[in-house]
Amino acid sequence: MSRRLAIEIAGLKLANPTMLASGILGLSGLTLKRVADAGAGAVVTKSVGLEPREGYPNPTVVQAECGLLNAVGLPNPGVQYFSEEIREAKELGVPIIVSVYGFSSEEFAEAARVAVEAGADAIELNVSCPHVEKTGAEIGQSSQLVAEILKKVKGRVDTPVFVKLTPNVADIAKVAKAAAEAGADAITAINTVRAMIIDVETTRPILANKIGGLSGTAIKPIAVRCVYEVYREVDIPVIGCGGISTWRDAVEFMLAGASAVQIGTAIAFNGLDVFKSVTKGVDAYLKKRGFRSVKEIVGLSHRY
Ligand SMILES: Cc1cc2nc3c(=O)[nH]c(=O)nc-3n(C[C@H](O)[C@H](O)[C@H](O)COP(=O)(O)O)c2cc1C
Repeated sequence: MSRRLAIEIAGLKLANPTMLASGILGLSGLTLKRVADAGAGAVVTKSVGLEPREGYPNPTVVQAECGLLNAVGLPNPGVQYFSEEIREAKELGVPIIVSVYGFSSEEFAEAARVAVEAGADAIELNVSCPHVEKTGAEIGQSSQLVAEILKKVKGRVDTPVFVKLTPNVADIAKVAKAAAEAGADAITAINTVRAMIIDVETTRPILANKIGGLSGTAIKPIAVRCVYEVYREVDIPVIGCGGISTWRDAVEFMLAGASAVQIGTAIAFNGLDVFKSVTKGVDAYLKKRGFRSVKEIVGLSHRY
């Protein structure tokens, strides 16, 4: 792997700037291993909470015109049970970032503590799930709540803490700034965009939960705009996420200000080869243009 691609984010060393996004293939040590073997620079687990959750009845995921619509309802076995998977994933040789959610700042902090005890290299706070009440985006829409949770989590763990923001707000930069001031080590932007599909034959909303989150190519320009706005506002690293499936997408996010990128939906459509094709493509782009490190292109579009 080319040295040009190596990055450090909040003290984590990554061989390349790609990461697995939360919620896709991240629910077991074995699937996380498959993703690391496929070339991801780091992996983010499915979001886990203090208690196990079943999630919503089917259908929970449907294909939209240019992406996926999901309302899975945060199904997970709970962080205690999941600790075993985290321990297994420690063998991967890439940083493991555990995504946690909670229904109070205390739950976020406790879930984070258990995950770190099991070996998480960093925590990503999911304050952006668009379809579960009293957690996720309901928190992520409030700068005050995001700051409160961050302070509590930072007081409980000594690993880096990332905050994953929702695009479903009027001013994402404002929430990012509050998160940075409260001690976030990086901002992940973005989670899915609130959306809906209705079947005209049956007249029914297709998802059991009716409203869900849109991901994939459809949301890429929204995500690029969010990264651009957040980068302008904060001095901590930004991790781009939303519709990345090619090296061009990854470069675009980096020019907007992303130090690294997460990939989710593209895996469902194109398989795990996406990590190698993105890293190879980014490396060739850097080489052709004479950049010695991927860091040199982060935020370049802000010159204009
Ligand atoms: C089926 C599915 C499940 C997801 N579950 C989670 C989750 O548990 N936690 C989270 O923070 N994001 C979750 N996400 C959001 C993704 O991590 C990502 O932010 C979003 O899909 C945009 O990136 P993409 O277009 O590359 O998929 C989920 C996305 C999908 C499609």
